[in-house]
Amino acid sequence: MNAVNRTVLTLDEFTIQSLRTLPSATGELSTLLRDIGLAAKRVNVEVNKAGLVDILGDAGSVNVQGEDVKKLDIYANNQFMGVLQRGVSCAGIASEELDEFVGFDDEVSRNSKYVCLFDPLDGSGNIDVNVSIGTIFAVYRRLTPLGSPVTLEDFLQPGNKQVAAGYVVYGSSTMLVYATRRGVNGFTLDPSIGEFCLSHPDIKCPEQGTIYSVNHGHFFRYDDGVKKYINTCQNKTKENGGPYTQRYIGSMVADVHRNLIKGGLFMYPGTTDKPRGKLRLLYEANPFAFIVEVAGGVATNGSQRILDVEPTQLHQRTPLFIGSKGMMAELESCLRQESATESVNP
Ligand code: AHG
Repeated sequence: MNAVNRTVLTLDEFTIQSLRTLPSATGELSTLLRDIGLAAKRVNVEVNKAGLVDILGDAGSVNVQGEDVKKLDIYANNQFMGVLQRGVSCAGIASEELDEFVGFDDEVSRNSKYVCLFDPLDGSGNIDVNVSIGTIFAVYRRLTPLGSPVTLEDFLQPGNKQVAAGYVVYGSSTMLVYATRRGVNGFTLDPSIGEFCLSHPDIKCPEQGTIYSVNHGHFFRYDDGVKKYINTCQNKTKENGGPYTQRYIGSMVADVHRNLIKGGLFMYPGTTDKPRGKLRLLYEANPFAFIVEVAGGVATNGSQRILDVEPTQLHQRTPLFIGSKGMMAELESCLRQESATESVNP
């Protein structure tokens, strides 16, 4: 009989081991990551039985017990907010699900040094058709002094100030991937012991990939530079590094996760009717830009590095181009060529 390998590191063991190499660290970030892992496991249980229970109902509808049915994304929001509020490392949160940030108003939280921003269940439009969905999170050191309540400025920091960022993908298996400046590591949930186990150490985004991910339905509403890049991808052959494959799930966590592992480029550009696109800078673009850059990739809004954008609003949207370095260079060359043509022939 093959014995199951129980020597793999769990998420907790891994973060504690990392702490041992950083004698000055307080352990607050490790604790926060453990809290996030716990919420992810709880959400995973509900996502897995989403087809079986009436949790899929719209918020506000009433289930058979006469209780309010909460949508899964609100359930996920409450789980992540709850563990962070009860923990000892987070002073406040901002969530894609909430209009305003929430400062935790108790003695321990007011003295915590981190704030956390998250999209509790991205791709939730895909829940009822059994497609992978995910959670995305970003962690920043607060700017306001310890002991005081958090304010909006703690949340409106550029992505380059992130201390850590990560995502959970609820897919054919459930994975938690997180990055600090020291590297990106992936943990797969082992349901037999209920723990995230290190399965993808030190993830690097391949420098060149062959997958491009974009919603082709908007093609005629994209800028000429984007159209040019899509045409370039379609015209790739064996002779010039291709052929390329188009893959678009419509669930960013799953799309970017696949491209991070296999090499590829994901884009959600602006369109003529929505010049800033759809994705949120603080909850989607910034954490993924941080993760992908630490892994060796590149992320821009088409003209600027995502991580250098100064946010002005909690829920602002941004165009996003993210992925393998080589493919991003090709994209940028198409965008530059078209903007040069436009300035000659406005
Ligand atoms: P939602 O959470 O509302 O389902 O949105 C998902 C996001 C993102 O995950 C995905 O890449 C994108 O929206 C897909 O949007 P389109 O359907 O417009 O391509």
